[in-house]
Formats: sequence, C-alpha cells, structure tokens
Amino acid sequence: MLQLQPGIFLEKLGPAHYGQIQEFDCGHVETNEFLHESAAIYAEENLGKTYLISNGEGTIFGFITLTMGVLKMKDADLALNLGDLDKPGQLPALRIARLGTSASKQGKGYGSLALEAAANIFRLLQGEVGTRYIVLDAVPERVAWYAKRGFKSVFSDLAGRTTIPMYFRPPK
Ligand SMILES: CC(C)(COP(=O)(O)OP(=O)(O)OC[C@H]1O[C@@H](n2cnc3c(N)ncnc32)[C@H](O)[C@@H]1OP(=O)(O)O)[C@@H](O)C(=O)NCCC(=O)NCCS
Repeated sequence: MLQLQPGIFLEKLGPAHYGQIQEFDCGHVETNEFLHESAAIYAEENLGKTYLISNGEGTIFGFITLTMGVLKMKDADLALNLGDLDKPGQLPALRIARLGTSASKQGKGYGSLALEAAANIFRLLQGEVGTRYIVLDAVPERVAWYAKRGFKSVFSDLAGRTTIPMYFRPPK
C-alpha cells in the first residue's frame, strides 16, 4: 500500500478487496460492472492490473485498470524520426483500460490522482521496457476531462464515434 496523500492510499487489487469492490458505484454501469465482475479475473489472468485509491481502511474512492497497449503511428506523431525503424506502424504504450471514481467523491481530485498514479507506473515501466505513451479510449462526455489533463485526441473529427482514442506523453 502506497500513501499518495495523507490518509489516501494506492493499493493493488487483490483477494482482500473482493468484498469491498462490490459496493463501488461511479455512476457508469459498464465501469461498475467491470470492477464488480471482471477486475479480479483480469488481475489473476494478467490481462489488466487494477489499482484502488482508498482511505486504507476499506473505503474505495476510485480505481484505475492498466494494461499494455499501442498507439498506431498512422494516427499520431508522424514527425517522429525512427531511422531504420521508420514507420513501424505502432508505438509502445501503457493503456488505461478503465477509470472510475466513487459518485459521492467525484470532483475532489481522485480521478486526477488516479491519472498521476498511472503516470508514475508508466515511468517505472519506462526504465525497463520501451513505453512511449499512455493511451485510452474515452467516452465522448469525458474527452474534455482528459484533454484538460494533457491527453490529445488521435482523430480531429470526433463526430459519430462512440469512443475516442486519446494519447499522452508524460513528462520525464
Ligand atoms: C471521469 C471521472 C473518473 C473523473 O473523476 P473525478 O474524481 O471527478 O476527477 P477530478 O476530481 O480529478 O476532476 C473533476 C473535476 O473536479 C475538479 N477538482 C479537482 N480537485 C478538486 C477539489 N479538491 N474540489 C473540487 N473540485 C476539484 C477538477 O478541476 C475537475 O474539474 P474539470 O472537470 O472542470 O477539469 C469520474 O467522473 C467518473 O468516474 N465517471 C464515471 C466513469 C467514467 O466516465 N469513466 C471514464 C470513462 S472514459
């Protein structure tokens, strides 16, 4: 358990949390269902690791699920000069698969804190494996929230899209 701020902790989801997560409600049905029904399986099967933001005593303020991903080079960063590796088609990334904060705690900075935690894990990974971006697919209502936190949309025309691919290159 890592202390992020006084009284606020980051914990990796494990069997000790399986009861607590059933109470979690971020107001978005699919995100809730993921945490309730799939996050434990994703962790056990190495499909995605979930990190909980909590008070350290069983109350969950938010969660973020991370997995490996790619940013398609066709879509972004075309100016990157990779020499012999020119236009490999895709660039390595850490993917935010899910993010949610408790409906009763939204607007208090926990979502931003979850993104900061992801950026810290990204920096740890970067020391060990090639990882250039953080990527995610945002629902249209959340694009502005991510954009305010540095994420760029892969496509300029968002019309008609049910999810919007976004990317961010955290500063070193
Ligand atoms: C999207 C989501 C994760 C954001 O989480 P959050 O905890 O509300 O995020 P934050 O508190 O960091 O930021 C929310 C706003 O509160 C503001 N804020 C930050 N700290 C604050 C504080 N201490 N007091 C009041 N407001 C604060 C931020 O400036 C931000 O404002 P903005 O939207 O105008 O930029 C949350 O709304 C959620 O779980 N939604 C449902 C699930 C979902 O949509 N997931 C994403 C799918 S792509």
